[in-house]
This record gives sequence, C-alpha cells and structure tokens, in this order.
Amino acid sequence: MIWKTSINKMTGTKYPLIMAAFAGLGRTEFAAAFSNAGGLGIITGLNYRLDSFKSELIKMKELTDKPFGINLTVLPPGVRTFDPLKNVTKDDYLKYLEIAIDEGVEVFTTSAYQATHIGERIIEAGCYWFHKCALLRHAISAERAGASAITLIGMEASGFKNPFQHTTLINITLAKRLLKTPIIAAGGIGDARGFLGAIGMGAEGVCLGSAILTTRESPAAQEAKERWRKTDVLSEEYHRQLYHRDLRSTRVLSASIAHQKEEVSIKELIEKIMFEAAEILKLWGLKEDHFTTIPK
Ligand SMILES: Cc1cc2nc3c(=O)[nH]c(=O)nc-3n(C[C@H](O)[C@H](O)[C@H](O)COP(=O)(O)O)c2cc1C
Repeated sequence: MIWKTSINKMTGTKYPLIMAAFAGLGRTEFAAAFSNAGGLGIITGLNYRLDSFKSELIKMKELTDKPFGINLTVLPPGVRTFDPLKNVTKDDYLKYLEIAIDEGVEVFTTSAYQATHIGERIIEAGCYWFHKCALLRHAISAERAGASAITLIGMEASGFKNPFQHTTLINITLAKRLLKTPIIAAGGIGDARGFLGAIGMGAEGVCLGSAILTTRESPAAQEAKERWRKTDVLSEEYHRQLYHRDLRSTRVLSASIAHQKEEVSIKELIEKIMFEAAEILKLWGLKEDHFTTIPK
C-alpha cells in the first residue's frame, strides 16, 4: 500500500509516521533504525552536547540514506529538568539548529514550550517546522507563528503533561475544525487501529512514542523493556501514574505498550502497523493499493 498524506509529502518518508522525542533515549542509532523502517527518525538534539552534535549528524547519514529530523525540546517552566537539558540557553537552541541546517536536515520538531524563535529560523531556512503541544490554544498560536505542522499530544501520552490537556480524540477532532495546518496525532498510539483512528479523526500523520521503546533497537535497558511489556495498564496504580491531573510529567509509558508482548525490531513493528492498517482499509472496501488524505 502506498501512503500519501500532507505529512509524508513534507517528510519524503514511505509512511506518515514520526518518531517521538525522547530525553536520553532519542539517540542517533535508534533514529536511524526508525528512518530505515520507513518513518521519520528523530534525533533528540539535546541528548548530545553542542560540540559533538555535528558528528552525530554525520554518523546518521552513514546509518541511513532516508530522511530524518531533529527535535529541539524547550522545557516548560516548573517541569523537572532531565540531565541532558540542563543549562541550555535560548542561543544554544539556535546553535544546534544552524549545525543541523548546515548538515542538510530539512525537518525539525520542537516541543514542549514556546519555540517561535526557533520556528522562525527553521522556516526562514526553507525547512519544515513541526511544533508539538498539548493544548489546542497553543496549537492555534503555533499555527499563527507559521508552523508547517502541529503535533497534538493527548492526555493518554507519556512525557510532559498539562493539567488541562484533553484526550487525543478531542484534541484531533477539534483541531481539525479549528486549524488549517496539518495535524500529527500523538498519545497512546501503537497499533494499526490506533493509527487509522488518528487518520479518521483528521490527523495527517502519527507520532510514535512509548510503543517503540520496547523494540530491539531502543536503547532502553533490557530490564526496563521487559518490565514495560509486563505492565498491567488496567491497574488502578498505573492509571494514577499516567492520568493524574496534578502530574507535570509522567515516568510511566503510555498504554500503547500493551499492544506488544514480545521484542520485535522497529521495522517489524512499523511493518505490522502499516500492513494491518492496509488490511483493515481493504476490509472496509478500499480497492486501490494506495491511500491518500490529500484531496484531488
Ligand atoms: C522516556 C520518554 C522521554 C521523553 N522525552 C521527551 C523530550 O525530551 N521532549 C519531548 O518533547 N517529549 C518527550 N517525550 C514525549 C514524547 O516525545 C511523545 O510526545 C509521547 O511519547 C507520545 O505519546 P505516547 O508515548 O503515547 O506515544 C518523552 C516520552 C518518553 C516516554
């Protein structure tokens, strides 16, 4: 099945799948594996110091000849600071950006706070700027600031939390009415039905976060991967850790991990999602071997 949405038209990838940003884990080799599997692999820029960032981009181009992107995470105030993100100044973000632009990177994801100063430079350089946010009103601001696409994270997601966040279902369907900018759905997606659900709600692409952390290429510790696969996502304790309104960020992965019970490669996971999505579409009556969300 050939997939064509405004997102993978921008990214040049086989599938409209974007890798999430991961403090600590969004490393070059993992991102290369995601790109080689047909999605847009994302290196979380701040996992590397400025003086070693360029060599990571060179390494990335040796590991994949497919498109890839860079994430620049701007921390919201009051959120616990991950080690790699300590002491990063506003100017440092622009330095990371210039290095990546020089190395030919064309897609940048920003998160989780105001990133307009970064986005303006991305657009000026002729690149694509995908901004990720949790609230619709922030998405509206990002559209006004000129973002090429907006990733909306539902409260099902792992990572940073906003106490006023809605679910992926509400975020995406409302955003589809309110925004003209293409939307990428994030939060709780890890199988073909989740992928198709997001497309049905109006997303043009899907961001995979927790679901890929249990794969073979994920740099997470083996012990953590096994624990995640065994997580009882139906328990009250897990529910509290993921959805509690007072959380500013959560340490547990989203329930999208419940779709995997054994370790597979990132390619196997992505192929399974996209193969099953194609099968479901055929079951629903799609006759063609291509699927597009772009109107003729
Ligand atoms: C271990 C981990 C680290 C993360 N680190 C970041 C980060 O540094 N920057 C960011 O914008 N989002 C971060 N996130 C959030 C993800 O990028 C993404 O928004 C989220 O995982 C999507 O929801 P899902 O986990 O349900 O797929 C992180 C998520 C996890 C699980």
